[in-house]
Amino acid sequence: MTSIDKSGTFALGDRTVKRLGYGTMQLAGPGVFGPPKDQEAALAVLREAVAAGVNHIDTADFYGPHITNKLIRQALAPYPDDLVIDTKIGARRDENGAWLPAFSAEDLTQAVHDNLRNLGLDVLEVVNLRIMFNAHHPVEGSIEAPLTALAELQQQGLVRHIGLSNVTPAQVAEGRRICDIVCVQNHYNLAHRADDALIDDLARDGIAYVPFFPLGGFTPLQSSTLSAIAERLDATPMQVALGWLLRRAPNILLIPGTSSVAHLLENIAVAKINLSDDTLKDLDYMA
Ligand SMILES: NC(=O)c1ccc[n+]([C@@H]2O[C@H](COP(=O)([O-])OP(=O)(O)OC[C@H]3O[C@@H](n4cnc5c(N)ncnc54)[C@H](OP(=O)(O)O)[C@@H]3O)[C@@H](O)[C@H]2O)c1
Repeated sequence: MTSIDKSGTFALGDRTVKRLGYGTMQLAGPGVFGPPKDQEAALAVLREAVAAGVNHIDTADFYGPHITNKLIRQALAPYPDDLVIDTKIGARRDENGAWLPAFSAEDLTQAVHDNLRNLGLDVLEVVNLRIMFNAHHPVEGSIEAPLTALAELQQQGLVRHIGLSNVTPAQVAEGRRICDIVCVQNHYNLAHRADDALIDDLARDGIAYVPFFPLGGFTPLQSSTLSAIAERLDATPMQVALGWLLRRAPNILLIPGTSSVAHLLENIAVAKINLSDDTLKDLDYMA
């Protein structure tokens, strides 16, 4: 059994994916804007991920923009049957790379069609509505209008499953009254644990939680506790951070981002790490 298989599986709607997946954001150019420095290296990361057994890949057409979706298509189409590509809509980039909201029904329809075209798909398996009331963290406010527009695109058969991203628990509850929500994608890691209660609530209801910035994102996790534990376990600090997430709750799906095959292989080897209950308690103090 490979390390990826050992990490187990969880449901995304009526699909089942391995808990160790891959996030493509790091494959675009600096600032997630423009093409990668090394296109062949980016394609190699995607091919290696799938060859190693990854069957859940996170992307967005606003990465680049359009870059990571086109890389996915070039590297992986025709897609393996078990591969679930999830994407996000609700934002756009301006000519300088700034991240702007794009929430009107027209914007969302355009974004779904852009994703379909650039990925080369007839239907998008999972589309997360990325809320942009504040680009950096969730802010309260009704999501009814954009989510209703996305649910209509689902009814037209362009989208199979819907998720939410950058949302508060109240917005998750509001969303679930409007349509089926199969996953929530929010900022969460060892040091950023605002969603602890939400994760447990979603686990009880069989809804996946997909932490973004699992390794700290643009500010990689660093702590003497993490380094000491990693050294003791003959692992790397990033592996310990991912191992903790795998243990944190059964509904957590990992999508660590990397532009390097070496880091990818390190990240997907994480299920071999054995974190004892005492080690988990030490890691808990990091929050
Ligand atoms: N919904 C949202 O709003 C949202 C926001 C952000 C991200 N996301 C999604 O979440 C995914 C994960 O987030 P992320 O990529 O921003 O951040 P991340 O996974 O927390 O961290 C990525 C950073 O860690 C480095 N890294 C990865 N593996 C490593 C390793 N084994 N050792 C050392 N450094 C390592 C990467 O550099 P290298 O390239 O050098 O490995 C990169 O700088 C993204 O790819 C994207 O798909 C979603």
